Amino acid sequence: MNLLLLGRGKTGSLVAEVAAERKHVLVLAGAKENIACAALTPESLRGIDTVIDFTAPHAVIAHIEACLRAGKNMVVGTTGWHRELDRIRKLVEEQGTGFVYAANFSIGVNLFFDAARSAATALRHNYSGQIFERHHAHKKDAPSGTAIAIQRLMRDASGTREDLEITSFREGEVVGLHEVVLESAADRIYLCHDAKSRRGFAEGAVLAAEWLAGKKGFYDFKDVWREL
Ligand SMILES: NC(=O)c1ccc[n+]([C@@H]2O[C@H](COP(=O)([O-])OP(=O)(O)OC[C@H]3O[C@@H](n4cnc5c(N)ncnc54)[C@H](OP(=O)(O)O)[C@@H]3O)[C@@H](O)[C@H]2O)c1
Repeated sequence: MNLLLLGRGKTGSLVAEVAAERKHVLVLAGAKENIACAALTPESLRGIDTVIDFTAPHAVIAHIEACLRAGKNMVVGTTGWHRELDRIRKLVEEQGTGFVYAANFSIGVNLFFDAARSAATALRHNYSGQIFERHHAHKKDAPSGTAIAIQRLMRDASGTREDLEITSFREGEVVGLHEVVLESAADRIYLCHDAKSRRGFAEGAVLAAEWLAGKKGFYDFKDVWREL
């Protein structure tokens, strides 16, 4: 595939590595090459199949809007914009493009989501619950998109309408640690996912771009990763 990758940061640079290993042709644009979405005009996107975005919360909405105007498929890893999901979903449907987004593109975290969904039953049996997330000190958004996704899926799965409290820690170079703790008078349940590197995010994002080829529609990775 011909891919345009936005963002040459910690995750974007690994996406570039994985895409090259999987023999995709890659154009890279960091902040300098993409001032006022210069890399996303219909002319610059000619010949590009899919745009992958690992940039920053303040920039991503403009990127999405520019790619939609140009009718391009997109895989969006950047977090911090999900309160606009409904509006973007409508735009994607109107434009007839393909779009995959994720709070977290790692297969391991998506397995963890399933475990958390299943454990949410505890909230109907006198358990209280808490979510803890720990990331490196440079992370711009808090709570993490992944913690918010866990909170939502546990609320929906438990049927209690109860949002578990999220506590965020920012320290050192932690890649991403998420814990769910459920506690009753009788016992305590711990679920934990601890990312060892960013490689899992990059692999998931490239696989999502491959899966999206030739498709239209708006997809959350957690609903489609089993099809990869
Ligand atoms: N969904 C997932 O699985 C997942 C996994 C990891 C991270 N993330 C999210 O992905 C985003 C990036 O994370 P990161 O850790 O890679 O951050 P990072 O190391 O800070 O990298 C962000 C990069 O984006 C570039 N950038 C900023 N504005 C841009 C623009 N308008 N056009 C093109 N590039 C632009 C920056 O370029 P300069 O250096 O030139 O300023 C920087 O290299 C964050 O929102 C993070 O939460 C999601």
